[in-house]
Amino acid sequence: MRLTQIATEYSTSVDVDLDASECRDLITRQYARTDATYVRLNMITSLTGSAAGTDGTSDTLTNPVDRMILGVVRSDADVVVVGAQSVRAEGYIVPRTARLAVVTSSGNLTGHQLRLDDEESIRQVLIVCAKERAEEVRRQLGSHPVEIVALASGADGRIAPQDIIDALAERALHRVVCEGGPSLASQFVQAGVIDEYCVTVAPLLEPANAPFLTIERAFRPRTEVAGHLADSAGFNYLRLRVVV
Ligand SMILES: NC(=O)c1ccc[n+]([C@@H]2O[C@H](COP(=O)([O-])OP(=O)(O)OC[C@H]3O[C@@H](n4cnc5c(N)ncnc54)[C@H](OP(=O)(O)O)[C@@H]3O)[C@@H](O)[C@H]2O)c1
Repeated sequence: MRLTQIATEYSTSVDVDLDASECRDLITRQYARTDATYVRLNMITSLTGSAAGTDGTSDTLTNPVDRMILGVVRSDADVVVVGAQSVRAEGYIVPRTARLAVVTSSGNLTGHQLRLDDEESIRQVLIVCAKERAEEVRRQLGSHPVEIVALASGADGRIAPQDIIDALAERALHRVVCEGGPSLASQFVQAGVIDEYCVTVAPLLEPANAPFLTIERAFRPRTEVAGHLADSAGFNYLRLRVVV
């Protein structure tokens, strides 16, 4: 498979083999950010706007380049933020360098596949929950060294995205990547906290039972193309930077 960098006003077109280390270098150059504070969204969608493939997860949408991008974006970040349902639905792996913040309002982590017995990686995990649920979360996690971040929530039990970002910043986690799922990601989008959209578009026509973003009202941030890659299988890797 080959990976092509689409020519933009700022770059020229280059072609690299997926197997070559050149490919990772290209992705690293494209996706690296030098700013000390940012909030990225990194997700994949089918052409039909589905966040999940035939198995009900993004595992059947993704491909090796997308996974490489995920790894590069994670390695650039201080923290990966995900909704609890994604952690329950997917075998979520704690990133190697970044921390993993799991957001929950119910505090019910039943079905998660986090390796509690792996002390080194579980120390990287934060559970961001509504204050009222903090005790319940601690009870489920026992003495495992997971940090619980208890925050105020609204009447619906939801914590405001900006409060999540602020709580992470208080812990010196300033470079944030939200990996979804759609429910959490849509709230981040609508709260206007995302400054860069890293979106993989997979050339798959899946029934869109689980829409990629579930926006309740039109939201049209002004954006510019920060990068665009395409591979020979038809996957597109778009980066849109919000212009303020
Ligand atoms: N395409 C992609 O890139 C991608 C990425 C990730 C996941 N996925 C797929 O997306 C699906 C899961 O997505 P989803 O939209 O159903 O769920 P989700 O966004 O992963 O998680 C939703 C859950 O997160 C918690 N939550 C969300 N917003 C919150 C807030 N403001 N305050 C407190 N807690 C909050 C709640 O947890 P509680 O229920 O515990 O209260 C809520 O039920 C799975 O199929 C997964 O495979 C796709």
